[in-house]
Amino acid sequence: MEHAGSGITSSWLKSTRQALSLGVIAGALLLAGCHQDATTQPVAKVPVPSVVHKDGRYALMVDGAPFTMLGVQANNSSNYPAMLPKVWPAVERVHANTLEIPVAWEQIEPTEGTFDFSYVDALVKQAVAHKTRLVLLWFATWKNTGAAYTPGWVKNDPKRFPRMLNEKGERIYAMSPCSDTTLEADKKAFVALMTHLKKIDPTHAVIMMQVENETGTYGLVRDHSPEAERIFNSAVPKAILAATKATKTGTWPEVFGKNADEYFHAWAISSYIEKIAAAGKSVLDLPMYVNASLRDPVKDQDPKTYSAGGPVWNVLDIWHAAAPDIFTAAPDLYNRHYDNVMANLDRYDRPDNPLMIVEIGNDPVYSRYFFPVLGRHALGFAPFGMDYADYVNYPLGAKAMDNATFEAVASKFRLVEPMMRQWAKLSFENKTWGVAEPDDSASQTLDLGRWKATVSYGQWLFGTPEYNAQSHAGRPAWSVPQSGGALIAQLGPNEYLVTAYNARVDFALANPKPGEQSQLDKVEEGHYAKDGTWVVDRIWNGDQTDYGLNFATAPHILHVKLSTY
Ligand code: DGJ
Repeated sequence: MEHAGSGITSSWLKSTRQALSLGVIAGALLLAGCHQDATTQPVAKVPVPSVVHKDGRYALMVDGAPFTMLGVQANNSSNYPAMLPKVWPAVERVHANTLEIPVAWEQIEPTEGTFDFSYVDALVKQAVAHKTRLVLLWFATWKNTGAAYTPGWVKNDPKRFPRMLNEKGERIYAMSPCSDTTLEADKKAFVALMTHLKKIDPTHAVIMMQVENETGTYGLVRDHSPEAERIFNSAVPKAILAATKATKTGTWPEVFGKNADEYFHAWAISSYIEKIAAAGKSVLDLPMYVNASLRDPVKDQDPKTYSAGGPVWNVLDIWHAAAPDIFTAAPDLYNRHYDNVMANLDRYDRPDNPLMIVEIGNDPVYSRYFFPVLGRHALGFAPFGMDYADYVNYPLGAKAMDNATFEAVASKFRLVEPMMRQWAKLSFENKTWGVAEPDDSASQTLDLGRWKATVSYGQWLFGTPEYNAQSHAGRPAWSVPQSGGALIAQLGPNEYLVTAYNARVDFALANPKPGEQSQLDKVEEGHYAKDGTWVVDRIWNGDQTDYGLNFATAPHILHVKLSTY
């Protein structure tokens, strides 16, 4: 795990070592032919993707350099070769660079001990051909807390693979996290998957693994099996006492009182997942994370009404202490409201929990949250259910997988796709900011230090709001309410990279001295060349800057230099 506290030294040494270890990918790349001809050069070994940490910021390293995942997640049952032709067009349609897609335990080990990797082989091969990275979602012991993705020989044998028991000793739907048998069986399958990936994916199309999916339990806060009762009434491990800053030692109920059930369940599940992740990483050291079905980010909530024991915000300390091989817990965002999304970003954007959105609803109103997510240095953003599998998860997500739904995501990814590597580097090394249009479309002011940026919505490209109000201009048709947002990165003391969608950005001095006035020194529109150098295409001036920097639906990247007079 590369996480807060692991420090830059170890993180950087690791990726540098990987990058420097030149080798022949004989085993994989060159063995395709039996002999080496004179033109065959030793190939630099492709570094294993990793997550590194420096000065409080994180980067996902892919091919040895920071990478921002512009992702889509396929629908749950799109994990079969026959479905892939309905998945790749969605990846291309939205300009995604990464596909998140399940690999189910039931499909790779339908019979105990006999593995079938034909789907994984097809997926990796097609991902390489589509120049798309993969995040594999290990749907196994828990998927949305349930056991549905376990193979028949597991789900139909509750004696060997026990379900959780309630207070009355009755079986409930979820697998017990206190069963070594289930853990060992899941781990064996996961290790087999990682071993296979190591063999077939030398160029690391697969950049991350999600271990299980939305864990926790609905309606029951912890397991009451005899084994669970035994551990619950034993001493709380030291690491958990330290992580929770407990003031006493003792059993779970003694130390944690009314929170004991939930804390115990969080520890039981995270310890289980840690063993799976650690075993997998010992074979192939890919970054591994978990995703969370969320509780209310602010209000008190009865743990029976959310996925208790999963990586919800109030138990993240326990999760990090018990699962050091899991680098982050990603919040699955399925509430459309601005305040709710911002509160969840606050909960999950922590020094020990780099922000990454691996699931967000695909209804067009969600796509604007791309801006604050990236502004907070997130490693990636991926709307859920983005394929042509003839399925919609409305009312959670979009009503139809129509052009508007795909375009909402494409219009945001299009801004960053051409500068993804530069953005990822800036995000790792510099200050960045991002805002999304709030539900009431009110403007927002960003504190950039010496400067401030005011972002406003629903404006025409020309004219002050007052002038346009007098002219009864209304809101332009292209500027659909709650679609806007802006992204800013610091390039120098008075210089910023700016891109936005359906938004106006105005810069000003934050605290001008008496008589000090600000101005746009120069606004360059341009693009990044293949070698990363900035190429100026034109200078914005006149109407293009007189009323702020105005962005409608077309992509523009600006370098903005500010000065005073
Ligand atoms: C969140 C889960 O993680 C997804 O797999 C999916 O079931 C969505 N909920 C609902 O479509």
